[in-house]
Amino acid sequence: MALLWSLGALLASLCAATAMTDPVIVTMPSEVVNVNETTVQLSCNLTNPTSAVAGSHWEKDGKKIDSSVDTKPNTFIEYTIKKADLQTGGVYHCVFLTSPQVNSSIEVKVLPHVKAYKHSEQGNENDKGVLTCTCHSYPLPTDWQWFKVIGDKKTLLANGTERYEVKSTPEKSILSISELDIEKDAGDYECLATNEVGSGSDKIQLRVRSRLAALWPFLGIVAEVIILVTVIFIYEKRRKPDDIADDDDSGAAPLKSNAAANHKDQNVRQRNCN
Ligand SMILES: *[C@@H]1O[C@H](CO)[C@@H](O)[C@H](O)[C@H]1NC(C)=O
Ligand SMILES: *[C@@H]1O[C@H](CO)[C@@H](O)[C@H](O)[C@H]1NC(C)=O
Repeated sequence: MALLWSLGALLASLCAATAMTDPVIVTMPSEVVNVNETTVQLSCNLTNPTSAVAGSHWEKDGKKIDSSVDTKPNTFIEYTIKKADLQTGGVYHCVFLTSPQVNSSIEVKVLPHVKAYKHSEQGNENDKGVLTCTCHSYPLPTDWQWFKVIGDKKTLLANGTERYEVKSTPEKSILSISELDIEKDAGDYECLATNEVGSGSDKIQLRVRSRLAALWPFLGIVAEVIILVTVIFIYEKRRKPDDIADDDDSGAAPLKSNAAANHKDQNVRQRNCN
C-alpha cells in the first residue's frame, strides 16, 4: 500500500516536472472535418512557455497567413475560417514566437474539390480521346472513378475494360478511350474522387468529330481548284474556234488594231466635247 502510494507520488511529481519544463500547446479542436461549409474556429493554448512570447501567427500548408500575424505576448490564439469551403482544407499550424519557437497543427479536412481540366473535350473518330480531372483539396483523394452519364444513369468505366484506360495519381486522373466512336463515345462523362471525408465530382462533355469533318476544309480547297481549272479549261476551249474565225475574217491581229482604233475614236470624241 505504501509502495503504491509512493509510486503514485513519484509518477505525479514526474508528470509535474515535465509539465513544468515542456511547453504544451492544447489545440481546439484537435481536427476539423468540414462537410457543410460552415465557419470554423481554430485555437491554440500555450501553457508553460520556455520564454516570453514575442508574438504569434498561423500557417496554412506551411505558408504564413499574413492577416494572423500578432505581436502581442498572447499564449492563447484563435483563427477563424469564415465560410470554410473546399479550398480552405489543409494543415494549419499555430506558431508561438518563444525561444525556441513552438507550434502545433490542426488538420482541416474537406471533401475532394474536383475540377475537370476542360469541361468540353473534342476528339476525332478513331483517334484516342483523353479526359482529365484534377483535385488539390485536403486530404487528397485515395480513389478515382470514371462514369459515362446517360440521362440519370451512370455506368462505371473500369480500367482495362473495353477501350477504357484509367491512370490516376492522388492529384489527377486521366481517362483514355481508344478508337473513338461517334455513336458510342460522344456524350457526358463524370470523374469522381473519394477521400476519407467523402466524394466530389465534375463533368466533361466529349464530342467526337467524324474523320470527314476534319477533312472538310481541305476538301473545300480541292473542290475550288477543280472548279477553277474546269472553268478555265471550258473557257479556253470555247474561245479557240472564235479566234480562228476572227483571224480568217480580217487577217493578222485584228482584235488589237480594232481595239486601238476604237480607243482613238473615243479620245477624239472626248476632245471635241471639251
Ligand atoms: C489555457 O490553458 C490553461 C491551463 O490548462 C487554462 O487554465 C486556461 O483557462 C486556458 N485558456 C483558455 C483561453 O482556454
Ligand atoms: C490500369 O491498367 C493499366 C494496364 O493494365 C495499369 O498499368 C494501370 O496501373 C491501371 N490503372 C489503375 C488506376 O488501376
